Amino acid sequence: MERVVILKVGGSVITEKDKPFTVRTEGIQVVAEAIAEYSKPLFVVHGAGSFGHFLAKKYGLSRKPSNVKPEAVSEIRASVLKLNSIVVDAIQSKGVNLYWLQPYAFYRDERSREKLASLLMKLIEKGVSPLSFGDVIPTEDGFRIISGDEIVRDLASLLKPSRVVFATNVDGIYRNFRTDKKPIQEILVEDIKALVFRPVRDDVTGGMKGKLVETIRIAEIGVNVLFTNGLKKERLIKALKGKDPDGTLVKGRVVA
Ligand SMILES: Nc1ncnc2c1ncn2[C@@H]1O[C@H](COP(=O)(O)OP(=O)(O)OP(=O)(O)O)[C@@H](O)[C@H]1O
Ligand SMILES: [Mg+2]
Repeated sequence: MERVVILKVGGSVITEKDKPFTVRTEGIQVVAEAIAEYSKPLFVVHGAGSFGHFLAKKYGLSRKPSNVKPEAVSEIRASVLKLNSIVVDAIQSKGVNLYWLQPYAFYRDERSREKLASLLMKLIEKGVSPLSFGDVIPTEDGFRIISGDEIVRDLASLLKPSRVVFATNVDGIYRNFRTDKKPIQEILVEDIKALVFRPVRDDVTGGMKGKLVETIRIAEIGVNVLFTNGLKKERLIKALKGKDPDGTLVKGRVVA
């Protein structure tokens, strides 16, 4: 069987990130069609976009565990699950068979990592594509946000995919997002580090910065990471196939 590919569908592709609770219907369609056309072993993770971001901010929930009000937890989850069900329906209506997994399924018990990996691989071998999403999870002392990007990083170390594809609403990683016309074509982990941690703050910020932190960790286990525009079907399919992307390729470090 061909090795699995992990696809992160950005919240910026499937929602209007600056309009609370607004789906981006054409983005969802493009992604659903690309996944159907790719039709090889795939693990899909999607972001929460404007179904998660606004509420998380409103209630002060972040990646750090905190004791938020119970209504914060139920409201954010209900919202994220609404988006999730729209995305799942759209993909399955193209004939793709998904197995919906809430992230809590892989974060509740560290000891079962090997078992979990083997179970997920068996699902994939049977022609079912697992799908998960950025969510709110319970911790020892409260709740925290688990981002789709973080899930992708953990799955990459668990499943050793042939590549990871990050689809967003932009063409790739830009050295200078404000001034550059084109994204970087290919970059080594070392150079990303320089990019992310450069003291010039307003260069790589916010969402993309976090994604790059996860990207470094994925590339360090020897997995190539591709960034492409998830609103362009052909580009997304090309990236899933691992062809020279119309976007940015982060070369996985060769592991000794
Ligand atoms: N240097 C950069 N290169 C590329 N994009 C950048 C850069 N700096 C900032 N960005 C922004 O990062 C955004 C993508 O990250 P963002 O976290 O907003 O989206 P996402 O991951 O698709 O959404 P979600 O987190 O909801 O899944 C782009 O829309 C772009 O505006
Ligand atoms: Mg993001």
